[in-house]
Amino acid sequence: MPTIPGVANTSPSSAKVASQEAINAEIALIADGYERGPQPESHPRLDYPPYRSSAKRCPTNDLYRTDPELIERTAPVFGQQDVGPFDSDLTVQHLGAPIGERIVVTGCVIDTDGRPIAGQLVEVWQANAAGRYIHIRDQHPAPLDPNFTGVGRCLTGADGRYSFTTVKPGPYPWRNHHNAWRPAHIHFSVFGRAFTQRLITQMYFPGDPLFDYDPIFQSVLDRRSRERIVATYDHDVSSHEEHTGYRWDIVVGKTPMVNP
Ligand SMILES: [Fe+2]
Repeated sequence: MPTIPGVANTSPSSAKVASQEAINAEIALIADGYERGPQPESHPRLDYPPYRSSAKRCPTNDLYRTDPELIERTAPVFGQQDVGPFDSDLTVQHLGAPIGERIVVTGCVIDTDGRPIAGQLVEVWQANAAGRYIHIRDQHPAPLDPNFTGVGRCLTGADGRYSFTTVKPGPYPWRNHHNAWRPAHIHFSVFGRAFTQRLITQMYFPGDPLFDYDPIFQSVLDRRSRERIVATYDHDVSSHEEHTGYRWDIVVGKTPMVNP
């Protein structure tokens, strides 16, 4: 069972709860400082105070380079037979069809040289169309869908392509601050050419009105990098009377580093 970042995971009673206006001011202050800084930051800030629990989640030691081959000897392995043909269709995992806007999300996993990465495991997890996870810590009053688990996986093809059929997740509240809502998103885990290249990230949907209010989305300080975590609507991926379509390519870096 994957962990679910973003689920209501901080206790509102354990600390003073900030207003949305206060969070916005913190976001703006950090963004202003970033704009005047020397270096672009394509990755999210690991310790980003407007995202309150990042203080507890972020590494407190520097990452260090490791030997990828040494890691491969002890890393989990799986075979082609472990991934079923229906694992990538989240709309057929139960007896009935899930409620929601049916979508296809597809794209390529490529390395930093633009080459496709074939045969790699891509995993997703997401809330249902009402913004609810099947998770004990998600108890906000939106309905569960008995026909939707929200977990899928597939292997990339020879061209690095992956594809998932699912329903568009809804936004959901979380307890980072008062009236905090996450933009709709799908969590992704991808492996590059080595186990140490594993990347866990989130894919967003274009035009979401919650982007400006979300400290997780805003923790990616570089505007162009933020744009890269937003999928593109692609009418050629949409299918007549079946589903709408989104395209999202994933670049996996080649720096082997681990958090001890
Ligand atoms: Fe989430």
